[in-house]
Amino acid sequence: MRRKLVAGNWKMNGSLAENEALLAGLQAGLGDVKADVAVCVPFPYLAQVQARLAGSAIAWGAQNLSPHARGAYTGEVSASMLRDFACTYVIVGHSERRALYAESDAVVAEKFAAAQDAGLTPILCVGETLEEREGGVTERVVGRQLDAVIARSGVEALAKAVVAYEPVWAIGTGKTATPGQAQAVHAFIRARVRSLDADVAAKLVIQYGGSMKPGNAAELLGQPDIDGGLIGGASLDAGEFLAICRAG
Ligand code: PGA
Repeated sequence: MRRKLVAGNWKMNGSLAENEALLAGLQAGLGDVKADVAVCVPFPYLAQVQARLAGSAIAWGAQNLSPHARGAYTGEVSASMLRDFACTYVIVGHSERRALYAESDAVVAEKFAAAQDAGLTPILCVGETLEEREGGVTERVVGRQLDAVIARSGVEALAKAVVAYEPVWAIGTGKTATPGQAQAVHAFIRARVRSLDADVAAKLVIQYGGSMKPGNAAELLGQPDIDGGLIGGASLDAGEFLAICRAG
């Protein structure tokens, strides 16, 4: 049985003071949560979350990394730097990175490999735009995004990774995929992995992300191939985030 993983993606939000309150709220309310829980925070706050969460049941990570190990890449952050702050996870290929920072499938695949080489667990985001969904090419897009990583790192690499299906049209919009729509894409992802390695497919944690809230989390997380959530907006509120975690 796969354990559920609920991860917060704080995006570019927070301050030292705001984070203190949020982290304290999360720790205070974690008692009855059965799912695995993580928060992916902006780089400058990794030291803070490490100090606050070390020894707790909440894991932490970053939202991006460089594909390069070190060198003349001004402004970038390497996988080993994330390891210095004891990160477990790093998000790669979030749709905002793909759209706003022109990250191609090939770049995302390099980042995924760099994360794993350093012992981090990548959370690989895949998902289609509204135009692509309406054009009937959702599976083609998601399949292509997945295949780029498999081509670079091999299907076995997914044994130490998480996939997050995040339909772009549902992110931060308040429009959630219906449980049926989400389940269909999750099943597609698992079947594609299964065609290469049944064992990896059976164990692969596939999160849903895109306007997941306390009100829709239980139904989404109740789908057979939805193994958790990647939570943006609702992860900035301890009560909402914990309610989603409890639904898992
Ligand atoms: P949202 O974001 O929950 O605010 O829609 C999800 C994400 O982008 O990871």
